[in-house]
Amino acid sequence: MAIVSRQLMALFSTSSLAVMGVNAQDMASVEQVAQGYNTQIAQARTLTKSYASALQNTLKPALKSSGPAGALKACNVSVPSITKAVNNQSKWQVSRTSLKPRSQANMPSDWEKSVLLHFESQKQQGVNPKALEASAIIERGNKRYLRYMKAIPTAQKPCLTCHGTNIKPQLLQQIRLLYPQDKAIGFNAGDLRGAFSLTLPFLE
Ligand code: HEC
Repeated sequence: MAIVSRQLMALFSTSSLAVMGVNAQDMASVEQVAQGYNTQIAQARTLTKSYASALQNTLKPALKSSGPAGALKACNVSVPSITKAVNNQSKWQVSRTSLKPRSQANMPSDWEKSVLLHFESQKQQGVNPKALEASAIIERGNKRYLRYMKAIPTAQKPCLTCHGTNIKPQLLQQIRLLYPQDKAIGFNAGDLRGAFSLTLPFLE
């Protein structure tokens, strides 16, 4: 579950687009992103914002009414359906990914992994994690996709309850039951938890 603050969106600007290319061909395409895809990237940012709020609106009340164990179940059940609902709103497909995912469904692709590693190194160089985003045109098979990613930093509260270094044993047990291959623990406040990852297929 991710919570993204409102100020965050204000930090976005086209010039802050960090662009990732895995090879020279991607880098060439990337120029096009900066020059011609501002409208689509603006849509991606808006959609990321509403996806983040939808997740937040599930997590927060569940934590309040039924504590971490209830919120864990709420995330487990509701995140896939929230994602589906957001995906039905536009041609963009939204998802979340991480170098250390909880859900196997959130394993990064090669491109996503390279962007996540890029975000980590940017952060180490002192870039504010809230400002980290990337876009590129990716070719897969015969199809082309506009891709957009936006970093998700780890907040002290409530993230560390379920992703931190000191998770309550009973909760950890429940996490392991639901996600036997969970890697999303051991985070500290300020770490990059992962990223939103959006895909827009080109009609060709
Ligand atoms: C109540 C427990 C709980 C809390 C609190 C929580 N999460 Fe999660 N988180 C989960 C569960 C469960 C999943 C897997 C859900 C899914 O994507 O299907 C998950 C998945 C994620 C993912 C997707 C990548 C992955 O690991 O699968 C990100 C990113 C994430 N959480 C970030 C956060 C952030 C940031 C916070 C704090 C704002 C937070 N979480 C708070 C339980 C929690």
